Amino acid sequence: LWLAVGIRRRHTGEPAVENGFIPYLGCALQFGANPLLFLRSRQKKYGHIFTCKIAGQYIHFLCDPFSYHSVIRQGRHLDWRKFHFATSVKAFGHDSFDPRHGHTTENLHQTFLKTLQGEALPSLIETMMGHLQDVMLRSDTLSPSKNHWEVDGIFAFCYKVMFESGYLTLFGKELGEDKCQARQAAQKALVLNALENFKEFDKIFPALVAGLPIHVFKSAYSARENLAKTMLAEKLSKRENVSDLISMRMILNDSLSTFNDLSKARTHVALLWASQANTLPATFWSLFYMIRSPDAMKAACEEVHKVLDDSGLTADPSDPTLKLTREQLDNMPVLDSIVKEAMRLSSASMNVRVAKEDFLLHLDNHQAYRIRKDDVIALYPPMLHYDPEIYEDPYEYKFDRFLDEQGQEKNTFQRSGRRLHYFYMPFGSGVTKCPGRFFAVYEIKQFLTLVLSYFDMELLDPAIKVPPLDQSRAGLGILQPTYDVDFRYKLKSNF
Ligand code: HEM
Repeated sequence: LWLAVGIRRRHTGEPAVENGFIPYLGCALQFGANPLLFLRSRQKKYGHIFTCKIAGQYIHFLCDPFSYHSVIRQGRHLDWRKFHFATSVKAFGHDSFDPRHGHTTENLHQTFLKTLQGEALPSLIETMMGHLQDVMLRSDTLSPSKNHWEVDGIFAFCYKVMFESGYLTLFGKELGEDKCQARQAAQKALVLNALENFKEFDKIFPALVAGLPIHVFKSAYSARENLAKTMLAEKLSKRENVSDLISMRMILNDSLSTFNDLSKARTHVALLWASQANTLPATFWSLFYMIRSPDAMKAACEEVHKVLDDSGLTADPSDPTLKLTREQLDNMPVLDSIVKEAMRLSSASMNVRVAKEDFLLHLDNHQAYRIRKDDVIALYPPMLHYDPEIYEDPYEYKFDRFLDEQGQEKNTFQRSGRRLHYFYMPFGSGVTKCPGRFFAVYEIKQFLTLVLSYFDMELLDPAIKVPPLDQSRAGLGILQPTYDVDFRYKLKSNF
């Protein structure tokens, strides 16, 4: 009978199970309404680990941060590839990157590390800094003036500036674009179209990850396919300054895979999404919280002025060519803390592994739990990020939360008097940790440095409440605000 109604019975040694009341969906609706509240209530009832049926899948939620390492490090019994590769195929429609499926022999993980980290970073940083200043001050994306305030939504502002700059940094510019006005206009139209298509597709991303087929969403499907058409090899080969991330992708798609042209183009759409979907809301929250906190603004301005002064740089909007090296950006602990605190409050990425076989999961308290083959084990970092024993007043924004007494990066956080290894996880963990995380933080710090250097900024309503997080994307990364917040900006008057 249990099998017939799709309900699991708890076996000896397994975590407590909650099947929920709705067939197939199980606890999905309660979880979806407010994952943190749901998981906290179950943690209270069952302890460090429990199992919930969510949309047909049994998920073991591990809630004890001192036991996280047994999931993050336990490679032998746990598979990270199965879930990640399958999700990408579902959302973007390319052939599988899982080498076991035989479409490619590429080690995608290695490609990401080579093209997004280490030696790849300086040129990504330099290119991004150039594009950010072009978009803010040279192109007609914004039209800032010294004499009057421009009003805009903070999210709309971050979206425009970061999308265009990030897109051009990854995908380069059309050959000869600099020399011809008609080509410049075409280039601008291409980026604006990409932005609209990205927005349309991104709206239904949670539904795709949940397993709904993209054909159900006609306009999102055509948005994704429009993006892919602009990323066919014949189009990309006409662009210059394409990042290593994309040019290496093109070479490896051609040399190691049997993907057809469209499938290859869709792998680029996947990277566009990965590079923007979290960065855009993370930039919003960083800017919003910073502007809203006079102390944060003051400390950030001082840090930016000092870095520019020490390097003999002056911000001049008529010649917007500020450059910051990786070392200079590394030396901005206040901005770092501002970005970290904003992401602590807005991130909701689920860390997922799949059991390759039946095995025993050992927790920190020396208890072991039986896990069945194909079950999913999940960590939900907001449980850490909003834990009052780790972060005092966890719902409050404190810009200097990640600074120590010397004003340098704070790396030690404790719970119950014990030092925690895992306390901040917006970028995931272990082998699936975001390979773009260094670039992501650099680009947000560059963005903040530039808006602070070139603009005066104010909230229209300085006492405005923090907009609630849009929980429809819970599990997938940085959450968006449910509505935008207006601010005004103008060029600094000392120019
Ligand atoms: C994967 C977060 C920006 C490239 C991920 C994952 C998370 C994440 C949570 C999945 C990890 C997992 O499944 O356990 C973020 C956040 C960002 C950001 C919060 C911004 C604030 C970027 C940027 C890039 C990037 C700017 C590239 C330019 C990637 C790629 C993956 C990934 C390629 C897939 C890695 C794989 O499957 O091996 N990111 N990311 N991310 N991210 Fe990011």
